[in-house]
Amino acid sequence: MTTYNIAVITGDGIGKEVMPEGLKVVQAAAEKFGLSLNFHHFDWGGCDYYLEHNRMMPENWKDIVGDMDAIYFGAVGWPDTVPDHISLWGSILTFRREFDQYINMRPVRTFEGVKCALSTPKANEIDFIVVRENTEGEYSSIGGIMYEGTDREVVLQQSVFSRHGTDRVLKYAFETAMRREAKDLTVATKSNGMAISMPWWDSRAEAVAQDYPEISWTKQHIDILSARFVMNPERFDVVVASNLFGDILSDLGPACTGTIGLAPSANLNPERKFPSLFEPVHGSAPDIYGKNIANPIGMIWSGALMLSFLTQDSGAGASAHDAIVTAIEKTLKGATLTPDLGGEASTQTMGDAILANL
Ligand code: NAD
Ligand code: IPM
Ligand code: MN
Repeated sequence: MTTYNIAVITGDGIGKEVMPEGLKVVQAAAEKFGLSLNFHHFDWGGCDYYLEHNRMMPENWKDIVGDMDAIYFGAVGWPDTVPDHISLWGSILTFRREFDQYINMRPVRTFEGVKCALSTPKANEIDFIVVRENTEGEYSSIGGIMYEGTDREVVLQQSVFSRHGTDRVLKYAFETAMRREAKDLTVATKSNGMAISMPWWDSRAEAVAQDYPEISWTKQHIDILSARFVMNPERFDVVVASNLFGDILSDLGPACTGTIGLAPSANLNPERKFPSLFEPVHGSAPDIYGKNIANPIGMIWSGALMLSFLTQDSGAGASAHDAIVTAIEKTLKGATLTPDLGGEASTQTMGDAILANL
């Protein structure tokens, strides 16, 4: 039997609280479907490690986790002690780049039992996927501050859009749409205001679309696209976006369905040359850390995506994924709800209920 090696990096804040719930559900699902998992726990990648070592990860981090089959990640960031741009660039953003996890797949859907934040009649039928570019775009450290400290200060922050990087995420999005019933793709853009990158991005979408005549697709400016997430979320199927636009859409989407505490993400290197990383969409939530009220579903659902991806989205891993999602559905329908969902369940109560329903 294949044993999958999984690096477990808990990180900061509620990452420490939701990870145990994720691990117990993932382990149980793996056992149920005959998958063998070997978890390797690491205490780095978060701000506690930084305070002791003045870096987020050991120098040889790549050797340590490079041969793992996947990384299961909690959350990183503790802005009271370490500035966010240091902790994030030293941890999660480094994983995404160095392991070429160029797809960030973030499914968004409603669940029975979860009060949708929207009052539109079709609010209960939301089911779409945000495919976010994950290694370039607006996230860059290229630029600088000129005339610093003077009243002539000028700040430049470069975006980077390569043809290689853009075409591959667009292709992945079209392929994702091909596997779905609606075969519909929305391309987020802002080619009216960003005069260089986004008209070019649109032209790459047009070029890639030539290979997918079966897909109905539109480009939509990010401002109205965000508005439509709120007004008509049920009309979306697959949405592809640059790094920053995808980041914003993947908080907005789950917020519309009720809470970001549910939202999972898969940072994928689809070629499997490097480990892929699975983590909730949310961060370390300092405002609720220590209260034992964090919703563990984003963490658990991300674990389900990990099992599915490990086994190439087929066989035991796909069954384990489906079983976890069904257990989440049952639990929410049965009204075990954490405070972000309007209930009183603790993080562990929610994890235990999902485990029991598995
Ligand atoms: P956040 O996602 O941590 O929290 C935003 C809000 O959502 C908070 O009110 C929080 O209580 C709530 N929330 C988040 N997850 C929840 C859950 N599971 N259950 C219930 N409520 C939940 O975003 P933030 O406050 O902007 O960021 C806090 C820190 O996390 C920062 O350092 C930020 O940079 C970092 N961050 C990290 C990641 C990551 O590791 N991938 C993602 C987002 C933010
Ligand atoms: C996310 C987070 C990160 C991002 C931050 C913490 C750098 O918001 O995973 O969505 O913007 O990618
Ligand atoms: Mn985000």
